[in-house]
Amino acid sequence: MNDDSHDETPGADSVALDPWGSSTISDYRSLFEEFGIEAFEDVLESVPAPHYLMRRAIIFGHRDYRRVLDAMREDEPFAALSGFMPTGDPHIGHKMVFDEIIWHQQQGADAYGLIADLEAHAARGLSWDEIDEHAEDYLLSLLALGFDADEGTLYRQSTNRELQDLAFELGADANLSEFEAIYGFDGETDVSHVQSVVTQMADILYPQLEEPKPTVIPVGPDQDPHMRLARDLAERTRFFKMTEAFASFELGDDERPLVARAHDARGEYAEDPDTPRCEEAAEWLRSADADVLDAYDDSTVESAIEKLENGGMEPLRPRLRFFDRRATDEAFDALVDAIDGEKRVFEGHVDVFEMDRETAEDLAVAVEVDHGGYGFVPPSSIYHRFMTGLTGGKMSSSIPASHISLLDDPGEGYDKVKAATTGGRETAEKQRELGGEADDCPVYELYAYLLAGDDDGLAEEVYSECVGGERLCGGCKEQAAELMEEFLADHQEKREEAREVLDDLDVELDSARAR
Ligand code: TRP
Ligand code: SF4
Repeated sequence: MNDDSHDETPGADSVALDPWGSSTISDYRSLFEEFGIEAFEDVLESVPAPHYLMRRAIIFGHRDYRRVLDAMREDEPFAALSGFMPTGDPHIGHKMVFDEIIWHQQQGADAYGLIADLEAHAARGLSWDEIDEHAEDYLLSLLALGFDADEGTLYRQSTNRELQDLAFELGADANLSEFEAIYGFDGETDVSHVQSVVTQMADILYPQLEEPKPTVIPVGPDQDPHMRLARDLAERTRFFKMTEAFASFELGDDERPLVARAHDARGEYAEDPDTPRCEEAAEWLRSADADVLDAYDDSTVESAIEKLENGGMEPLRPRLRFFDRRATDEAFDALVDAIDGEKRVFEGHVDVFEMDRETAEDLAVAVEVDHGGYGFVPPSSIYHRFMTGLTGGKMSSSIPASHISLLDDPGEGYDKVKAATTGGRETAEKQRELGGEADDCPVYELYAYLLAGDDDGLAEEVYSECVGGERLCGGCKEQAAELMEEFLADHQEKREEAREVLDDLDVELDSARAR
């Protein structure tokens, strides 16, 4: 693929999200505006017993995570899934994602961890021997950190036939122009790389194969393009599309709130407030005050009024509308039959008048599933910040000193922390006077992201002592280095214990493939 192609996309100079590029993101806030990722802090208070990565705003963003939280709180089925490209050793950056999957599993999720070996082969050109070796390492670390393999599912893409079948089906709803726009693919892109994207789409929806359910995908923000596409594809496979309408004609998403506003005001203008007429609403809007209309574009106001005028004497009445998007005739008829209360059936859609949105959505899913459809719920995601490399730049698997591998010898981990860049001042004297710059310190990040674990007290103590000038970098690093050494020793012991668990699972670790 052409890795530079994002530079030509509008806005790409401020942020670019490229799943196969080098992911440094300087301004996480701009991801909210530019891509519609929502701030995690807005949902934090509805998370039961939030993980420390959430409490410390390391998980900073989400898409549609409320849906998952609702299921979690109401004890309904939900799932969590993430995937790992086995291109090198698993390192402390991957540990965040392992922890996120495990935490969701402990909150009741059906949990999935997958090895993206097709992607590693297609997009990174790794040989199958290398892939096998790394695949095992990822799985051992995931198990060692607490993934419950009896309850959860581990798989690799290359040996999962069901997954590949789903990928094939989803591929029928995506096309190359779209891949070009999203990923910068072009005529030179290998077909296998294209296939690995469709495979990832299938990964993301895989937990819903048996039954539709809210699913969260914990990832770094570089994976967001995949999330947007997966959410789109999930929607495209659905049998019915639901909209809100007020009369027989369709409204645009921008027009709908304005017409709803006019409906709310019916008491002010309708001759019979029980049966406001479209043309009465149009007339009211024509002479409405600025405070009603100010929130809308002139063109929206104009087009809404025109539609209402054309509606004439038709009553203005709120309803839900199910469009038959790709249902069979039987499925459409079954939906119509299942609707209680007043309904009006048209060619290709049905309007219902006495049903709330949630009931309607559930009904659409149930009918779809009954008639052989997937009924996919759009998948949700949560996004974590990338850790800064120990040497200052980005943390990269290809620069050993920049990261700590979960397989590093504990003594080596100790040494790497001791050698890390800090946010300290040139002299101890200055540090006491001005305080350290914990916000720009890779060592502080180690505490916050990993070493302090669940102990918020420790993370806060390091931070406040640092910025208050009471903490000097030498001692701070010594403490961090010792904690790292302990963590690695303990983790590696647990990895050894996990070998037995892994042997008993039916995850194939010797690829039959030649190269
Ligand atoms: N593309 C991901 C990466 O580069 C790996 C991956 C494959 C993945 N399938 C997934 C991540 C599904 C999340 C969900 O690391
Ligand atoms: Fe970083 Fe610790 Fe030095 Fe503060 S005292 S700058 S947290 S190493």
